[in-house]
Amino acid sequence: MRPFTFIGLLSAAALASAAHLPPRNYASHDYYAIRLTSSTSPAELAAHLGLTYDGPFPALENHHVFKAPKHENDIVDDAVQELKRRRRKREVGMEYHVLDSVGFTQKQKLKPRHWKRSQIPADPKSKESDAVKTQREIANRLRIKDPIFEEQWHIFNVVTPGNDINVTDVWTQGITGKNVTACIIDDGLDMDSRDLKDNFFAEGSYDFNDHEDLPVPKLSDDHHGTRCAGEVAAGRNDACGVGLAYDSKISGVRILSGDITDMDESLAINYKMDLNDIYSCSWGPPDDGRTMQAPGILIETGMITAVQKGRGGKGNIYVFAAGNGAASDDNCNFDGYTNSIYSITVGAIDKNNNHPYYSEACSAQLVVTYSSGSGDAIHTTDVGANKCTAQHGGTSAAGPIGVGVFALVLQARPELTWRDVQWLAVMTAVPFDQPSDWTQTPGTGRTFSHQFGYGKLDAWAIVEAAKTWKLVKPQAWFWSPWMHVKKPIPQGDQGLASVFEVTEQMLKDANFERVEHITLTMNVEHQRRGDLSVELISPAGMTSHLSTARRDDEAPYGYVDWTFMSVAHFGEKGVGKWTVVVKDTKVNSMVGTFTDWKLRLWGECIDASKQKPRPLPTGHDDDDHDVIVDHPAHTTSIVIPTPGTKTGSVNPSDMPTRPVNQKPSSKPTNTGAQATETPPSPSAATSTSSSSTSCATASPENFLPSIFPTFGVSKRTQIWIYGSIGLIIVFCGALATYLFLARRKRLQSSRDTYEFEVLDDAEDDENSRMLSGGAAGKKGRRAKRGGELYDAFAGESDEDLLSESEDGGGPYRDRDEPYDEKAAHREDGSDAEGSNASGSSGGKRQ
Ligand SMILES: *[C@@H]1O[C@H](CO)[C@@H](O)[C@H](O)[C@H]1NC(C)=O
Ligand SMILES: *[C@@H]1O[C@H](CO)[C@@H](O)[C@H](O)[C@H]1NC(C)=O
Repeated sequence: MRPFTFIGLLSAAALASAAHLPPRNYASHDYYAIRLTSSTSPAELAAHLGLTYDGPFPALENHHVFKAPKHENDIVDDAVQELKRRRRKREVGMEYHVLDSVGFTQKQKLKPRHWKRSQIPADPKSKESDAVKTQREIANRLRIKDPIFEEQWHIFNVVTPGNDINVTDVWTQGITGKNVTACIIDDGLDMDSRDLKDNFFAEGSYDFNDHEDLPVPKLSDDHHGTRCAGEVAAGRNDACGVGLAYDSKISGVRILSGDITDMDESLAINYKMDLNDIYSCSWGPPDDGRTMQAPGILIETGMITAVQKGRGGKGNIYVFAAGNGAASDDNCNFDGYTNSIYSITVGAIDKNNNHPYYSEACSAQLVVTYSSGSGDAIHTTDVGANKCTAQHGGTSAAGPIGVGVFALVLQARPELTWRDVQWLAVMTAVPFDQPSDWTQTPGTGRTFSHQFGYGKLDAWAIVEAAKTWKLVKPQAWFWSPWMHVKKPIPQGDQGLASVFEVTEQMLKDANFERVEHITLTMNVEHQRRGDLSVELISPAGMTSHLSTARRDDEAPYGYVDWTFMSVAHFGEKGVGKWTVVVKDTKVNSMVGTFTDWKLRLWGECIDASKQKPRPLPTGHDDDDHDVIVDHPAHTTSIVIPTPGTKTGSVNPSDMPTRPVNQKPSSKPTNTGAQATETPPSPSAATSTSSSSTSCATASPENFLPSIFPTFGVSKRTQIWIYGSIGLIIVFCGALATYLFLARRKRLQSSRDTYEFEVLDDAEDDENSRMLSGGAAGKKGRRAKRGGELYDAFAGESDEDLLSESEDGGGPYRDRDEPYDEKAAHREDGSDAEGSNASGSSGGKRQ
């Protein structure tokens, strides 16, 4: 037998070092893991085979580690096999051999490294697309390591290339928002978020709800402002994604989390207007399809002050979300914030370039950009140290993408004025292939749709254009006198038209060169406001649908000094006959009278040296209201037939009465042209012939020649026109093509109602509540909020929106009582743009 004590001692020595096996050196040695029966000691085996014993496995019984200088063979196994062979050949006997104690032996081999489980293998079924590779290359080039960057499809869409904001080639030029500050006016901004803290600009921030310096989100649903901020200025870092202007500064002004007054709101929208360049406003009056509400005079004055004095006199940029009320017929021209000439109104499209059911249309909408719908939403920063959301949506999420883009524009060209930024948006937005009332505008040749404005923002295109943009001259204006109509409005097919002719001399006297915005202030008495619609036809033949019928708007008093706005006339000369057509679209017992109207043209002046800034509103600017001016271009009130219905030759679905979700008509060119389908009465003929733009009747004054149009604009503009993605509807040359397409589309979809996309899956209950609960006071949480947040989510159902408009009276209801509205107006006076029923603002802010 073996000398037992000796073995015991050796084992003890080995055990002592068990906890710390000597480090292995695979470069110089082979290692063997061997299980031994207890009858043999490791030392004996080591001696027998010429191995070095390193020690036992700390945890595995009878397992030991041996090593030998590197050698090709497996010394242990070779010896074991050799013993077996010799026994078979009887060269050795069956008596005990030291190798008989080897129960298991394994020479150690280096193996491929394990993967950390955080690395998810690519799905072999989905071949990596070129777009994914490009996205990765861009991220590497820009050193973007943000974990959700690849989810941010609105920045770089790998699924549908092109359906994104087209920003990455702006970033590679180093244009990332440096030296530009955007201010999110909202429910707070989480300045402690890792994604925002480096860009947070405390000096431009304030909390008007809790009257504190920092706009800390405090209520459980105060995440809206932070999400918007992330879209603009989330940093390039290891948290969430990046903002469109990831090197810009971001400030927050908190107003939506408690009671405020017009004064607070005025202070808020002017807060640090020399430090904050852009104000992002993703909120507004209720989108319930029956509210008609405008900023009070303090707020209006605040905005005028900001565009005249803010940003070193270049004017602050206000960006407003268009509103989420489309499913209940709402229209952003019933919202005095979105229809202000001083704000850029941004609507939404979804990742498939579809119109999401919530996004409102109006003639005041300048552009659209991406947001929720088709089962996805915007991925951005959320409240919390390192929290992200994949659920940001509604026009609320579209607005801040616009803000981010404008921040890039201002870095590229800091001297742009607020009007230059609007011009650039008009000239570079990209129309796309979706059914709408796309119309080539006579002013710029750009294509406009009431649903999509001038198209979708393209960051690269607008920044490139900004670099060489010739700054516009100061703003001039021309105001017509009050035009007194005072005639009953026929019902149904008919419209009551009134014409005002602007002469060249009038514009010369006003130092007015060309049109940018049109506002039209009007009084219409009616027993049911929702039955009314209003169109404005310019001398060049462009029709703006200023107002559209709203099924839930029961207000029994019509329009009281309401100001509508249109951006569809940018670039027009303005000289000639402007025709306003008021319609009472429903044949019922509710009737009304068109009282009066006043047209205002806003645009570029002729002689900059003579142009003074617009005086601030005094509250008495409409004192001429009842003065009858013996004006040479006296208004004529005429009845013109609504297009198509008399002759029956035009499908009623082609009627331009409701641009929202209107499918392309067989008259793609200009809805105004349809107003002349049927020869009107002699008196009307004069006023409408000039508005005709059909090929057959195109007059020399028309900006649109018959074939291969130059659009009557500069060569440069034409380059823009032809350069934009091939969706521009050419008037006559392409009419045949268009007719084919339009016809095909009509055949594909059913009749005149565009189908809303409604997704059933409720993706974000909380956010659904935000909208529906926000409007419905009974749900309480938002009861004291100053305005609605323009969130709408893919999962939100129509029901939410409808139930909202069915319940009796939450705090966001339009509280206007007919007499209050009038009384408030007369008391308040109205500013020069029309006070837009400022009486309602009291109700709104309670
Ligand atoms: C997008 O950006 C590229 C440059 O990166 C530019 O060539 C293109 O015209 C832009 N717009 C569109 C719609 O692709
Ligand atoms: C940054 O902006 C300020 C004011 O907005 C301006 O005075 C300054 O020149 C800008 N700096 C750069 C480097 O553009």
